[in-house]
Amino acid sequence: MNDLAIRNASITDAVLLCNAERETARTPGLLISRPSEFSSKSFEEKIDVLTREGLYVVAERSGLVVGHALLEPNRLESLAHVYSLTIVVHPNNLGQGVGQALMTVLLEWARARPGLLKIELRVRETNSHARRLYEKFGFVEEGRLEKRILLPDGTFIADITMAWFAPD
Ligand SMILES: CC(C)(COP(=O)(O)OP(=O)(O)OC[C@H]1O[C@@H](n2cnc3c(N)ncnc32)[C@H](O)[C@@H]1OP(=O)(O)O)[C@@H](O)C(=O)NCCC(=O)NCCS
Repeated sequence: MNDLAIRNASITDAVLLCNAERETARTPGLLISRPSEFSSKSFEEKIDVLTREGLYVVAERSGLVVGHALLEPNRLESLAHVYSLTIVVHPNNLGQGVGQALMTVLLEWARARPGLLKIELRVRETNSHARRLYEKFGFVEEGRLEKRILLPDGTFIADITMAWFAPD
């Protein structure tokens, strides 16, 4: 995995990242959005905003984008110390250390970010790989949102809220 590199996302990554999330969403129980609910325009907009106000990075191996992750600040003044985390390792690249590399960069950035005190995320209860990754990086469970996600087969699963707190 020594040719794995993490760089800032650029607007020109939007279509590829959108397609990767759409593909990931074909497996129920990973992401919240359904495949038809992604648009490259919204990826462009988020990359643009987070380039100025947060962090949006991609992982590249041998010049190919294999994952992405972001930290998004809350816009309300009373919540400005709270950021939201999203991470997606692209299909066919799972279990090869990409998620770990992305999380390492996100948390290094978070520790150095003035005013960032807390990172929040939501993860589907059945997504044990992601929950294990977050725990490994110091996230703790804060709550359980019952019946939050409706799967295509008509069943519901819970979302787990997790958080990371910046060291004092
Ligand atoms: C969750 C996700 C980000 C993990 O990334 P990854 O690149 O596959 O994970 P890594 O290879 O870097 O492994 C890092 C850690 O994740 C956990 N993990 C990853 N794959 C795992 C597996 N098959 N079984 C158990 N734990 C696993 C482990 O804690 C692992 O650390 P370890 O190897 O020291 O035990 C990735 O699976 C993913 O993007 N999934 C699809 C999208 C998604 O679910 N996003 C999160 C939505 S909340």
